[in-house]
Amino acid sequence: MSQHQHFLIVLRHGVRQPRNPWSDGAEYINQCPIRPGQNFTYKIQLTTEEGTVWWHAHSGWARATVHGMIIVYPKQGTSYPFPKPYAEVPIILGEWWKKNVMDIPGNANKTGGEPILSDAYTINGQPGDLYPCSKQETFRIQVKPGKTYLLRIVNAVMDENVFFSTARHKLTLVGTDGFYTKQFQTDYIMITPGQSIDVLLKADQPPGLYYLAARAYSSAFGAGFDNTTTTAILDSQSGHSNYSSPLLPPLPPYNATQASTAFSRKLRSLASKEHPINVPLKIDTHLLLTVSVNLLNCTGKSCNGPFGKRFSASLNNISFVPPRMDVLQAYYYHVNGVFGTNFPKYPSDGFDYTGKNLPDNVLTPDFGTRALVLEYNASVEMVLQGTNVLASDNHPMHLHGYGFYVVGWGFGNFDPEKDRLGYNLVDPPQETTVGIPNNGWVAVRFRADNPGVWMMHCHLERHQTWGMSTVILVKNGDTAETKMLPPPHDVPSC
Ligand code: C2O
Ligand code: CU
Repeated sequence: MSQHQHFLIVLRHGVRQPRNPWSDGAEYINQCPIRPGQNFTYKIQLTTEEGTVWWHAHSGWARATVHGMIIVYPKQGTSYPFPKPYAEVPIILGEWWKKNVMDIPGNANKTGGEPILSDAYTINGQPGDLYPCSKQETFRIQVKPGKTYLLRIVNAVMDENVFFSTARHKLTLVGTDGFYTKQFQTDYIMITPGQSIDVLLKADQPPGLYYLAARAYSSAFGAGFDNTTTTAILDSQSGHSNYSSPLLPPLPPYNATQASTAFSRKLRSLASKEHPINVPLKIDTHLLLTVSVNLLNCTGKSCNGPFGKRFSASLNNISFVPPRMDVLQAYYYHVNGVFGTNFPKYPSDGFDYTGKNLPDNVLTPDFGTRALVLEYNASVEMVLQGTNVLASDNHPMHLHGYGFYVVGWGFGNFDPEKDRLGYNLVDPPQETTVGIPNNGWVAVRFRADNPGVWMMHCHLERHQTWGMSTVILVKNGDTAETKMLPPPHDVPSC
């Protein structure tokens, strides 16, 4: 690595980090990069999360390979809200490139081109039997007939939502993003980049070999979709001599929006006495953010997209530009000129977001580094409205520092009057990343009780690279316990 290349910012994805944005790790949001030879110690405090979360580098495309799982067990003296599994199996869905991962963005970064597609999807680092690679190294789970296993699944893929399934076996959902859910049985899951999903799998099928398989779900005209399937093997034949080739599960096709939403729709919080929910019922801060991919005119060097144009992406028509120093330090030390506080709380114009004929002004976003400012303890409803500006897609939106409640979603344009009546305020699932349905909207609620500077972005890396990000700045409260912690002494210098 050359002297100038900076590296490694690590983030605990989906960990709340109460009052401590200093350890949240997003490059140019929470800190400047840790350069070769420097070090920085992250302090992680696990308070509300229980189940599976993860961590990854948050600098350029380094997260492609620099990532891992964090398992949070039940507090001492408490137990899972389901019978204790016989064993637990971590499963990380990933991708593999023949190129150096730091070259993946290719021309995507500054000139709005497409990133380099991966050469394989992987399960725990292995592409599996369906690729012309080493079969010996395909990930295997040896199971005992009749026993139940807890699969902790993280989608660390860069750019694709993923369907995941196991041949013949039902999966029982028990958690998402570090929060327990009501159990339900399903043949497959849909998991977006950034999400984690915990399922129980009972080895209740005849002894044999069964594939666990994952394949992309890509709603936007198959962008990046390469029709390949990664596999691992569930092996329950212990002692049986009858070795046959494993069965493949049926997976929904890549453009199966129905299958994707049918799954997400079933998610519900546990909402029990031991795991109560706390969804704000009275809202004082209403936000509506449009989520768009744009295609801009350009010339010469700044130009690397299709049709002589370049891609960009935006939230409320603002395409995020990373600042020269991190927003957090600029905020804490009152450094002017690093970011603005004028991120719009609504789109500037109402229009038919998911329609075909869009007004000219939404085709060209403004570029800028703007933060959306929230009062401490505000009760917030945020509607994320997908648009059809260039094409519609399922955007997995991720908010740092919070676990929000997904109270509603639908297709088409959000209609406040009508759609609020259909909200689930009883047991909405709590998540840190939510997929906005293709040509639709999602409504989330949360209480802004974690002061600090928090990034929000699409977890499809190419969209984030094109500017589908913003910063949410939650002000301090009045008391010492409701203020951001002071910076640690080893904050990397910019
Ligand atoms: Cu896992 Cu800012 O992301
Ligand atoms: Cu996106």
